[in-house]
This record gives sequence, structure tokens and C-alpha cells, in this order.
Amino acid sequence: MTQETQNVLLSVEDLRTWYELRKWGFFHAGYVKAVDGVTFDLRHGQAITIVGESGSGKTTLAKTLLGLVPPTGGRMDLAGHRYDSERVKWLRFLFKQSERAAWRNKRERRTWIRAKVGFVQQDPYGALAPFMNVRKILAEPLTIHRVPKHDQEERIRAVMEEVRLTPSEDFINKYAHMLSGGQQQRLVIARSIVLEPELLIADEPVSMLDASVRVEILQLLRRIQESHDLGVIYITHDLSTVRYFSEYVFVMYAAKLVEKAEVSELIHNPRHPYTQALLTAISDPDPDNARVFKDVPKGEPPSLAHPPSGCRFHPRCKRFMADLCDVQMPVSFEPVAGHQVECWLYR
Ligand SMILES: Nc1ncnc2c1ncn2[C@@H]1O[C@H](COP(=O)(O)OP(=O)(O)OP(=O)(O)O)[C@@H](O)[C@H]1O
Ligand code: SF4
Ligand SMILES: [Mg+2]
Repeated sequence: MTQETQNVLLSVEDLRTWYELRKWGFFHAGYVKAVDGVTFDLRHGQAITIVGESGSGKTTLAKTLLGLVPPTGGRMDLAGHRYDSERVKWLRFLFKQSERAAWRNKRERRTWIRAKVGFVQQDPYGALAPFMNVRKILAEPLTIHRVPKHDQEERIRAVMEEVRLTPSEDFINKYAHMLSGGQQQRLVIARSIVLEPELLIADEPVSMLDASVRVEILQLLRRIQESHDLGVIYITHDLSTVRYFSEYVFVMYAAKLVEKAEVSELIHNPRHPYTQALLTAISDPDPDNARVFKDVPKGEPPSLAHPPSGCRFHPRCKRFMADLCDVQMPVSFEPVAGHQVECWLYR
């Protein structure tokens, strides 16, 4: 095993999550292919951003990684535990191959994933139980994971300190509705790290917050990532915020990761026509802001129940090549080392 593979925290290969559509609640009527052939690795302590427009499958990918939605196909390895689709699990069972994962049932698997992966979602208020105060919200995961009562208070105060809900005495007995949006999101972040996870998934963590607190929350996440050497998957539709998590960006389009590159490489040399359309030159005295996210390309995002044939971007693509792009799904090309793109222009 190379040092590189030893250092991998999460490895995802050809992951697919399809939602089944049913007619009259009974008859099979197809699938919404919300995640369809996603492959990537995340190293310990690495931060990546997944950017994509609404409905591209970002939240479904997050939920699959969190074990909330079962994958239809492919596999993921998280901190040495493998999670396959149900079908593969049955095949293994039939052929009596031992499972690397020591999970006996779904509940056990979810509990294990909860300890390893923290989750920060879009709507902080919706994520917090209205009948629990701050102390109870932060104590709950500790109790579920059998942290002794006498250690809980110390841990709760430490995470409150970390997310700057201070002085903790002023907040610890408050309920979610007594906190501002920014404070609620700090509390959600505190809860997501209270079990000291190895990976944090933040799904549009600032999109519902006031513009004035967005940067503060992103900086807080970055600080936590650095001080705990956390793996972070930051999900957003806004490419202008990627510099807060500045290592890798994956561009998601219609359930696929169509481009993967280091942040500065992607911003300065976008290869996929979709990414190029996302990045538009503007006149700004600050060279760092010379190219920023402006708007999504013209046209409708495709239906994931009936995606276009061949390249899923072809109905909107200015560089479309007839009899190729509309017929064959592009494979991954690497025009320069470390920069991958699924587009026939680079064949
Ligand atoms: N439980 C479900 N059952 C059926 N289809 C679903 C379900 N959840 C999501 N979808 C569909 O899967 C697709 C991807 O949805 P998802 O929420 O993952 O996208 P997203 O990129 O997170 O979008 P947004 O930016 O709006 O949050 C959409 O077409 C959505 O309608
Ligand atoms: S494969 Fe063809 S249609 Fe798809 S993005 Fe590339 S050029 Fe455009
Ligand atoms: Mg979403």
C-alpha cells in the first residue's frame, strides 16, 4: 500500500443513487438518477468543494455518504469501512466473502457513520429540535455514543468555545428560536464536531444566512478544518465561495462530476464548457476576483429521470459535436496532470 492510499479517508467509486419512481404508488415507473457514476478520493485533512446548480444531485450525494440514503450501485470506503449497494452485499453474502465492515445492522452502521462524519445542513433552524436547549442539543450525540455524563459538560463547553458561542453561560440554556441565524448555524457546527469526527460534510451551510454572516461562518469552518485536520466536503452552488476551502473543486452536472481540479487551476483554466459558462470574466481591480462565478448557463438543467443521451450537457453546449456528444457518454480525460474532465473535446 502506498503512502498516498494509506492517507485516504474516503474513497468513492462509481457511486450511484437512484430514486425509484412509482406509478399509483405501486408500479415501477423508472428512476431519478440523482447520483450516477461518481468517483473520487478524499485524503485525511483535505478539503474539497462540490459545486453545481440546483437539482444536480449534491444533497443526494451527501446523504449517500452519510448513510441516510442507500446507494444503488458502486462502493464507498470510509476510514477502512466499506459500504456497498445492497445488491453487492447480497452477492458477497451468497459467495460467503467476509465483509470488511463490522456492521451488524443499519442502525449500527448509521451510529458509526455519525461519529465519523459531521453534517452541517442548509437550514440551521430546521436542523435543531425546538424543544431542546443548547446543552441538550449538544449532549444528545454524546449520550447516544455513551460518553460518560461527567465528561459531557466539559466537551460541550469546549465546542461552544470553539464555535464562539461565548460566554457559554449566556447561551447554554437558550432554545434555537432565541438565537440569530448565524448563532443557530454555529450551534449546528458545534453539534457536528462534538464527537470529534474525521470528516465534515457541509451542504450549502451559508445559503440561508444573511450576507453579513456568511463569510464569518465559512471562516469558522475553515479554522475548524485546519485545527482538527478534518476532511471537509463543502457543497455549494456558488463558485465564488470556494476560495474559503481552497484545495480541490469538483463540478457536478446532472448527477456526474464533470470536472475535477485544484481551485486555482479550475478558476484560471476551466476546461469543461459547463464550467467555462459558470466562470465569467468581470472587471475587478483585485486580480483574485478577475474571474468569478456569475450565473448558470442558458437553458434548463436536464431531467434526471430522462437525462439526455450521450453527454448530459449537450443540449446546452456551445461546442457540441454532432454524432459524438449526443451519442456517447464522455469518459474522463486528464489534459494536464491532476485536472480531469469528462468532455470529448479532450479526447
Ligand atoms: N427522496 C427523493 N425521491 C425522489 N427524487 C428525489 C428525492 N430527493 C431528491 N430527488 C431528486 O433528485 C434530484 C437531485 O436532488 P438533490 O436534492 O440531490 O439536488 P441538489 O443538487 O442538492 O439541489 P439543490 O441545489 O436545489 O439543493 C432532483 O431531481 C430531485 O428532485
Ligand atoms: S462532450 Fe460535447 S456536448 Fe459535452 S461538454 Fe464536451 S463538447 Fe459539450
Ligand atoms: Mg441540495
